[in-house]
Amino acid sequence: MIESRLLLATTNRGKIRELKKLLLGLPFKIESLDKYPEFGRYRETGQTFEENSRGKSLFYSRSYPGLVLAEDSGLEVEALDGQPGVYSARFSGSRATDEKNIRKLLRLLKGVPWPRRRARFVCVASLAKQGRIVKCFRGSVSGYILNEPDGRNGFGYDPVFYYPPLKKSFARLRAEEKNRVSHRGKALEKVRHFLAASWQRQS
Ligand code: IMP
Repeated sequence: MIESRLLLATTNRGKIRELKKLLLGLPFKIESLDKYPEFGRYRETGQTFEENSRGKSLFYSRSYPGLVLAEDSGLEVEALDGQPGVYSARFSGSRATDEKNIRKLLRLLKGVPWPRRRARFVCVASLAKQGRIVKCFRGSVSGYILNEPDGRNGFGYDPVFYYPPLKKSFARLRAEEKNRVSHRGKALEKVRHFLAASWQRQS
């Protein structure tokens, strides 16, 4: 039997909510980091989503007796040469909030015309076990940065991320709608397939 416990290596409430929905139905007891303050905190020092994602999953897998799923994600804006990228969470400084990050982003993009407001969310999810990487998975979704926030759902930059196929900002989508098309949804779909196949092989 495959490990029956899976740790989500994050304390971000928005991410935990989405990840739990995306992993529904898999034969795991899913836990999140809030329950394990004794594991300490991983410092993200990588220059890429992959480095941070791998580093985080490895770090917690040295303490946790099961599978660890870590993800690093963020927003890359074309007109800002890919910023904020791996700095998405702390874009406005050490006391960053979603609102402050959005304000900074909109200030930097003031006057930038629509075609140059292209952006994408990227997510790299890594599975690790007992100090070893099991596998990494990537997902991304493209859109445009609006001139002002629109909508109240989701988290982070969702209110300013416009998704053309649905003609709405991510913050106007229901959780299920966002999960079907988002960077995290796509990466986690791959995780689901991988875990389901491994579980079938081992049971
Ligand atoms: P980290 O992966 O914890 O370093 O943080 C990623 C940051 O990227 C979040 O705090 C958000 O600011 C942003 N981000 C990642 N995924 C999403 C998303 O699905 N919607 C909106 N913002 C996101």
